Amino acid sequence: MDNQKKIALIAGRDNWHTRDFPEEGIPVVTMSDGPHGLRVEKKAGIGFPQSVPAVAWPVLSALGCSFDTELIHEIGTALAEECIAEGVDVLLAPGINHKRNPLCGRNFEYFSEDPVVSGELGSAYVNGLQENGIGASLKHYAANSREEGRLVTDSIVEERTLHEIYLRAFDTVIHKAKPWTMMMAYNMLNGIYCCENEFLMNHARKEGFDGVFVSDWGGVSDPAASLIHGLNLIMPGNHHADAKVQEALEKGILSQDKLDESVRCISDLAKKVSHHSPKPYDIQKHLDLALKAAEESIVLLKNDGVLPVKKEQSFLLVGNLLKMSNHGGNGSSKVEAISVDHVTDIFDKRKINYAFYSGKSIEKTIRLAKEKDIVIIGAGYYENEESEGYDRKNMRLSSHQNRLIRELCNNHDHVIVVIQTGSPVEMPWKEDAEGILYMNLTGCRGGSALTNILFGMTCPSARLAETFPQKLEDVPSYAHFSDNPHQMEYREGIFTGYRYYDTFDIPVNYGFGHGLSYTHFSYSDLKTGDYSVSFTLKNDGDYDARNTVCLYIGFKDSSITRAAKELKAFQSVYLKKGEEKRIVFNLDESMFQYYDIQKHDWMIEEGMYQLMIGGAVNEIFLQTEMYHEGIQNPYSSIQKEFYEFSEGKLHIEKASFEKMLGRQIPQFKNNIDADSSLKDLELHTFRFLAKVLSKKKELLPGVRLSTIQETPLRQILMADQKITWETIDGMVELLNGMPVKGIKKVLKSLKSSRL
Ligand code: GLC
Repeated sequence: MDNQKKIALIAGRDNWHTRDFPEEGIPVVTMSDGPHGLRVEKKAGIGFPQSVPAVAWPVLSALGCSFDTELIHEIGTALAEECIAEGVDVLLAPGINHKRNPLCGRNFEYFSEDPVVSGELGSAYVNGLQENGIGASLKHYAANSREEGRLVTDSIVEERTLHEIYLRAFDTVIHKAKPWTMMMAYNMLNGIYCCENEFLMNHARKEGFDGVFVSDWGGVSDPAASLIHGLNLIMPGNHHADAKVQEALEKGILSQDKLDESVRCISDLAKKVSHHSPKPYDIQKHLDLALKAAEESIVLLKNDGVLPVKKEQSFLLVGNLLKMSNHGGNGSSKVEAISVDHVTDIFDKRKINYAFYSGKSIEKTIRLAKEKDIVIIGAGYYENEESEGYDRKNMRLSSHQNRLIRELCNNHDHVIVVIQTGSPVEMPWKEDAEGILYMNLTGCRGGSALTNILFGMTCPSARLAETFPQKLEDVPSYAHFSDNPHQMEYREGIFTGYRYYDTFDIPVNYGFGHGLSYTHFSYSDLKTGDYSVSFTLKNDGDYDARNTVCLYIGFKDSSITRAAKELKAFQSVYLKKGEEKRIVFNLDESMFQYYDIQKHDWMIEEGMYQLMIGGAVNEIFLQTEMYHEGIQNPYSSIQKEFYEFSEGKLHIEKASFEKMLGRQIPQFKNNIDADSSLKDLELHTFRFLAKVLSKKKELLPGVRLSTIQETPLRQILMADQKITWETIDGMVELLNGMPVKGIKKVLKSLKSSRL
């Protein structure tokens, strides 16, 4: 295979295909989004054009609350069948990024605030796909925690935090499922773009990853540097990377070996994927599984006796979300659902005695409510409020929804609130509502699943995989999430999610792992065995039900700063009423390890560990201790005294964070280059250009203006085949005050690319 073909192979052919060289035995690889169901575009286009109708699965944020690895494995298998039916070889999923802040626009696409949950469920998802011949693309590697400025933001993370929180789930999936591809994130990590971050890619290789590192779409800032540092495949195609790669090869800065390694990875993938001939799948079987998944994902947060409701009662359903369920989020994971069960449709089908009202007028709502036994109000976000490409500005429901819920609760004794969002919201009416269900975004069967839970046909079993804080200011990353468009300082370190709230006793609305049931489980007879713990779980209530049991481990007397406890393992168990089962957690060393930044490796500190059996992190039923051998006096740069509080809010000085980092935070240099965005240009003399462009409303259909303003110059490569890297270079020269040189280069590049 000559170098011309090799250079062609490392960049895609178009948005969704690699290049194929049949004469070299390298078939094409067809890729498609997404994690919640197939988004196969009817025709390629900018933004997110219309896609082929598909089964809309619950979003990963919902599935994370199931804690059910077997269920997720079944969904992976079903998705593989759907891929085969559509001729897709690699599904661009799952996204397993850590949920650092509830405002992140893509939180609905990620499993959890805990790396064990994300790693175990991510592994099950990948295995389900790949055991059926469809490749996964584990994403977005790594520390992709914000949508604002996502293509140019530098995630600044201290080493122990990086390993224990942000890489841990990726490591687990590499160990347990060996994904065939990993998608490199748009952002920088500690100053280097992920697509050219040798540390990141070498780390994954050391953990055993032997697949293809593929860029996120348009995520490459420097094609040659990316290939040199380990990236294998640049997507999408028409990126004209070949000229830059060719030049680097000829100059010897890209070695032949490196190029050949990428070619080998891509050709291995091309041969590995099943290339099944498309065959239909059993839609009803998938819809039934989607129902089971939705039922296992809906969390019962509060029940003062109103649930389950009875068919002979009368109901007022309030809110358009009960008439038009919000089954998923916006962006590349969006699915054109082949069908959606809306709650009112299901109530109709089951001939339940109800009335519906949008809730537009509060007075009218209260008047209607007085005629009914139970009020069920659907509250949440509408389609474009949670999306890839931008973050939420607050954690509140709309003021109308909050007012409506409060007024209803003041005027009716039996109000059930159903929350349809993919991430936590504030609940000022929490004490007033008699029942609260977190429905999340539960795909095409959500309406049936909710109805089954409301009427007790299914017993709720889900647990929160992400904490519901009382207010946004309580979130540990609050002060350092959207304070800087170019850098994001992870100053909270390992104290993220429940690791923060539980350790620093910060009150929350509902904690990690919280989830009620209609039945009751008892936990007894805890024993430690040979590197294991076991106990008896009994369903001593009135419903057959599933229950997730959790093993948390703490180390009170540690000589380094640690979270009070951490989830180390969980099991989802189904018990009929009256049934009991002996549960065994086999231990392994990884459960006792911390990441040592002097040894740059995982170590175990010697001492007495606390082993806790619980549900929620603040709901420990059984506890014991176990002494573990290990090293003495370990070191960590994270010190508890760095964590100060002023007016109830966490505050970490920049100097303290730099001590954690072991280096100074680099000053962002706003040079004009291919990574400059319209916003950056506004700070320069090209204010007029940026203002003119950013004032135009719908520059791209369906793409928010802020997203365009934050997009780097190089992204216009994706807009038109005729634009090449040379065009970009010419524009940069022009913007840097060399108009003649720049315009000549732009014109020459456009002329040559037309040829
Ligand atoms: C998007 C997303 C990624 C998706 C890809 C293809 O920008 O970041 O998750 O798979 O591009 O649509």
